[in-house]
Amino acid sequence: MRIVVLDDAQAVARFGADTIGEQLSAKPESVLGLATGSSPLPLYQELISDYQAGKISFKSVRTFNLDEYLGLPGDHPQSYRHFMNKQLFNEVDIDLDNTEVPDGMSKNPLAFCAAYEERMKQAGGVDLQLLGIGRNGHIGFNEPSSSLVSRTRVKTLTRDTVEANRRFFAPGEFQPHLAITMGIGTIMEARSILLLATGTDKAKAIAEAVEGPISASSPGSILQMHAKVTVVVDREAAQEL
Ligand code: GLP
Repeated sequence: MRIVVLDDAQAVARFGADTIGEQLSAKPESVLGLATGSSPLPLYQELISDYQAGKISFKSVRTFNLDEYLGLPGDHPQSYRHFMNKQLFNEVDIDLDNTEVPDGMSKNPLAFCAAYEERMKQAGGVDLQLLGIGRNGHIGFNEPSSSLVSRTRVKTLTRDTVEANRRFFAPGEFQPHLAITMGIGTIMEARSILLLATGTDKAKAIAEAVEGPISASSPGSILQMHAKVTVVVDREAAQEL
């Protein structure tokens, strides 16, 4: 594991954008695994600036997102498809047909999950997987106690995760408690992984993922078994290391 501690969230975003930039210049037709949440937002801003400055192109890139709420259509403001279109895809030269986010309205989610894995395989597998981490240590929506070899599937969200994400929903609005997520085994097949975390809220999850025992209680800890992981954190998220 390579651990990079930087001054603040902006520096973390810049480091992440440079890592993706290097990946795309080495292989313009890269397959990127992408993440949602607040952690990658500044990174997406940096990528948009790099694209506008002509430093980077997504023309030949394919993407697979980690997860999506079950029960939200792609045009729902809280869906991860909507998030990705708004925060990145609509602002760069990527072909939307080359972007995949799990279908939260799939009539047969189990069959969908198997097909999603198959499409990732057909695409040649993920070259670079971007990850955030939940404050309870989840990656994607692989909550604590998820099998460390799990594949893309439907997961029930923990109360803590539902609470943490409530801020994005209006009071009284339907908030899903189920999600489709790439499994931990799926994530581990990416050729390289870039995990970003910022803020004191993430300090415990980062300490457990980086220095704790490998355990399903802390899903991020499995990354210790991956040969090419970079964990990029600001000083706040690094404070328990
Ligand atoms: C969400 C997402 C994860 C994300 C995590 C942290 O629930 N499913 O992919 O990494 O929680 O989110 P944030 O970056 O907003 O703290």
